[in-house]
Amino acid sequence: MANDSAPESLEPPAVDDAAAAAAPAPAATPAGQEFRAPTGTRDVLAPESARWTDLVATFARSMRLAGYGLVVSPMFEDVGVFARGVGTSTDVVRKEMYDFLDKGGRHVALRPEGTASVVRAFVQHRPATPFKAWYVAPNFRYERPQAGRYRQHHQLGAEALGSADPDIDVELIALVAGFYRDIGLRRVALLVNSLGDAACRPAYSDALRAYLLARREQLCTEHQTGELENPLRVLDCKREQCRAATADAPLLDEYLCVECRAHFARVTDGLDALGITWKRERRLVRGLDYYTRTTFEFAAQALESAQNAVGGGGRYDGLAQALGGVGFGTGIERVLLALDAEGIAASAGSGVEVFVVDTVDGTHARALTAELRAAGLATDRAFDGRSMKSQMKAADRSGARVAVVVGSREVELGVVAVKPLRGGDGAGQSEVARADLVVHVAGLIERLGN
Ligand code: HAM
Repeated sequence: MANDSAPESLEPPAVDDAAAAAAPAPAATPAGQEFRAPTGTRDVLAPESARWTDLVATFARSMRLAGYGLVVSPMFEDVGVFARGVGTSTDVVRKEMYDFLDKGGRHVALRPEGTASVVRAFVQHRPATPFKAWYVAPNFRYERPQAGRYRQHHQLGAEALGSADPDIDVELIALVAGFYRDIGLRRVALLVNSLGDAACRPAYSDALRAYLLARREQLCTEHQTGELENPLRVLDCKREQCRAATADAPLLDEYLCVECRAHFARVTDGLDALGITWKRERRLVRGLDYYTRTTFEFAAQALESAQNAVGGGGRYDGLAQALGGVGFGTGIERVLLALDAEGIAASAGSGVEVFVVDTVDGTHARALTAELRAAGLATDRAFDGRSMKSQMKAADRSGARVAVVVGSREVELGVVAVKPLRGGDGAGQSEVARADLVVHVAGLIERLGN
């Protein structure tokens, strides 16, 4: 599938030195200035990052079980990939895209979402269909930062391209629902809708546009003056004026063609057959223009309604050139917020299990950590020739359940001291022959349990 010889259209355009020269030179760093993560972004450090690792591992496992392969695509693309893919009437493209001219004068954009890139890769490489792919990737949107809304967020997502079969829609929805179940999220509601297709949606768009034009002055300022190029955007507007003005707006449901109705019925029948609870949300249009037919969103009931969408997706048959595609994305940050709101703690066992304290010269710690790690035990040690007291403090801070202590006495006797740090109801320190250390520590950790 990999394509070594780039097609003609992907040759880089001629480098525009003038554009590169016009870019301001990076400012020198004032001495002593402390930089902070840019507005709307955050650093994720351990132990919080261990929860990310857990989420990604759980997701990766469920994707493998369902026959989806990882796809890694560039973090930036030609701006047209998103402008054309996501749609020029969307906030994502109109207001939020990080787009710029690179040093060669190419107009590129940081990825605001994952689907358009996967579709571009699909069209470029033409893999066998259905092409089932998953990803974990950062996305960039210049939004107003607030709790659960960042300028760089991270999504776990999946796409299935090259099939119009409604059973694939069901498969993907079931995968998200299963993922939430696996990570312990309980209070999520699945909302589903059908957005029709190129055959039936135009008539609906016309009817909705006419309805909105008749009430133009009641809409929010943005929609009063805008083009109403895609009137469905007004249904997605969160402002009170638009909400009130569209309360009795015509619904797409009444315009769905026979084929779209049948497709949607098969999706909802499939959800029922798999025991997945869903609710029809007739106003669900989602914020990206590419959707056709099935659309869905998972709302975390424990979160504030403005940021309660933990995941969403749908079908986009126009985007993948008559072949059809469907997918979803779920935000890692939002999922973690929802887990917190439900009081679900991180899974245990993400830190180290053993901490080696060497008060001789560090060479014993060097050898023992290598041995313990090779046996599959997560092990850390202190550096810089710290005192016994300081190393024991570090051992405690590390979260390890067992400390392995080596001093000159132990070296002389060819033993090591093994000290349980947590669990085990006060089990005391023991001394074991150095050669038996790994087996002894592994057994002890098992006995100490979780
Ligand atoms: P989306 O609804 O724009 O869809 O984003 C998917 C999820 O990413 C949201 O439900 C939310 O959890 C998270 N998310 C979005 N924006 C932010 C933000 N600014 N800060 C934090 N989390 C955020 C898509 O992006 C589509 N590509 C999904 C899809 C895949 N549709 C078909 N295939």
